[in-house]
Amino acid sequence: MCGIVGFVGREEAAPILLDGLRRLEYRGYDSAGIAVFDPKDGLQMVKTKGRIQVLADHIAERGGLKGTIGLGHTRWATHGVPSDVNAHPHMSENGRIAVVHNGIIENYVEIKEFLQSQGVHFTSETDTEVVAQLLEYYYDGNILDTVTKVLHQIRGSYGLGVLCADCPDRLIAARKDSPLILGFGKGFHMIASDVTAVIKYTRDVCYLDDGEIAEITADQCWIYDSYLRPVEKEHHHVDWEISAAEKGGYEHFMLKEIMEQPKAIHATISPRIRDGQVVLDGLDYSEEYLWAMDKIYIIACGSSYHVGMAAKYVLEKYLRKPVEVALASEFRYSEPIVTDRTLALVISQSGETIDTLAALREAKRLGARILSIVNVMGSTIARESDDVLYTWAGPEIAVATTKAYSTQLAVVDLICLSFARKLGTISAEEHDTILAQLQSLPEKLEEVLEQREQIQYLASIYFNHSSVFFIGRNLDYAVGMEGSLKLKEISYLHSEAYAAGELKHGTISLIEQGTLVIALASYRPLFEKTMSNVVEVKSRGAKVLGLTTEPLRGEMEKVADQTITVPEVHPMLLPSLDVVPMQLFAYYVALMHGCDIDKPRNLAKSVTVE
Ligand code: AGP
Repeated sequence: MCGIVGFVGREEAAPILLDGLRRLEYRGYDSAGIAVFDPKDGLQMVKTKGRIQVLADHIAERGGLKGTIGLGHTRWATHGVPSDVNAHPHMSENGRIAVVHNGIIENYVEIKEFLQSQGVHFTSETDTEVVAQLLEYYYDGNILDTVTKVLHQIRGSYGLGVLCADCPDRLIAARKDSPLILGFGKGFHMIASDVTAVIKYTRDVCYLDDGEIAEITADQCWIYDSYLRPVEKEHHHVDWEISAAEKGGYEHFMLKEIMEQPKAIHATISPRIRDGQVVLDGLDYSEEYLWAMDKIYIIACGSSYHVGMAAKYVLEKYLRKPVEVALASEFRYSEPIVTDRTLALVISQSGETIDTLAALREAKRLGARILSIVNVMGSTIARESDDVLYTWAGPEIAVATTKAYSTQLAVVDLICLSFARKLGTISAEEHDTILAQLQSLPEKLEEVLEQREQIQYLASIYFNHSSVFFIGRNLDYAVGMEGSLKLKEISYLHSEAYAAGELKHGTISLIEQGTLVIALASYRPLFEKTMSNVVEVKSRGAKVLGLTTEPLRGEMEKVADQTITVPEVHPMLLPSLDVVPMQLFAYYVALMHGCDIDKPRNLAKSVTVE
């Protein structure tokens, strides 16, 4: 989704802005632009459809952009097609004010009509341009006051950066429902939608909250609320290395992140296990609270929702409490039954997904206690939750999530063991077995990753299939949903995940000679049931790629055309292993199709619009 970077300091701004935009590329975008204030020629802007490199080439062709203050933006089109004109920054008609914006201005039509009736001419189809034009319309010589006035008139969501040619020593930034951070350096300040854009220059950051406005110069920073009352903000230190957000010798971030899963799971689990018990970062979930809890409502989108699907099976089995899993985009507009005894478990890698955030707020309004599982420190979902358990996956750059998904699963396992122990709904023996196996999960994952070449070979056999079905039962079904999403999002192949027993209620009509069915049958209690469904598709001509555990290999091989296995572990931990061959399979299929694996078409890493 869109990205913002802004710089004010003593060095040339353009190279820093371009570098920041490159680091934001992973978020997904279709056009990009930069505006810099040149002391000789005033506000200068270059923007273009396509990749950052195209923008960099355009800037180089015109001999660079001179100036020590500027704004950059990567746009992911919502209002208006991807084009040079619709790319940000947007300028007011007289070229005095430049604006970059993430989010959506919901009342842009009425503002545009009003401004047009006043004789203002628009050049783009975007909602953002109304902000630039409205700023100019109200401009009274004080850009901070004018921004504040305009913010009171617009509705919707925004992360905003403003540069006015009349005061070329400062940038104004503001946020509502779209993340924005400030970076503090010696002799410079930055704004960005994401810490990755500033980490090369500074690790000292501050997260703006909704309604806040910041004014930054090279040496000073002021933060205000929406009525320009000064606000004191905490600074945060970003402690991950810049190399964590680089490819480190891998062809793609996605492959690097798949391979990092053992390390990420170890980092997530090990600090939370002490003396044979799970310690949830000192969070207070007393026995009384858990007994009184009437339900767990899991709220998430996409892959995080798939973690929720797996979590439902695990939590219901071990806690004996009802668990509902809701797509955040549906939850927020339904009438969910939530009480003050409901625990809302909110799962989000980015911590910024707008639907998940809105659903969190709704659950909170209805009285639920919010426990979130989040990967990005200081993100909005983390800050608005009552309790947070971070996944220590490190920065995830590929749009298709892998290590964040696995670490979310690991946190669910920890929550399950901790709560079940307190409720007494798990025996000490089973608890200890699962915990020990959870600790050895990184080694088991290494074993699965060693099959990388075999999975690449399988991908070479099947990559030309145009339609793929994933089937499984219980936890295998939940993993199938994730496997299917991975395949479609990066290879653009059509695929569906079905509960194996549901297939014959309609979808089996799509199975014909040669259709590829990926059958997940690792969950031993339902192995035979799933295998019956595998036989059904096989007898209708399907090609079957089976996934099971090593001890069941022989049984699977009797039916499937090819078989992948994972080491046998406690069923609760199977999804963590099963998902890895699915990720690798999708990766190699996409590679064979020549797809843009880290930045798949139409997708964004952090979905900050509805
Ligand atoms: C998964 O590969 C996708 N990138 C997507 O489904 C993602 O999981 C979803 O958008 C939710 O994002 P979040 O975890 O950051 O909230």
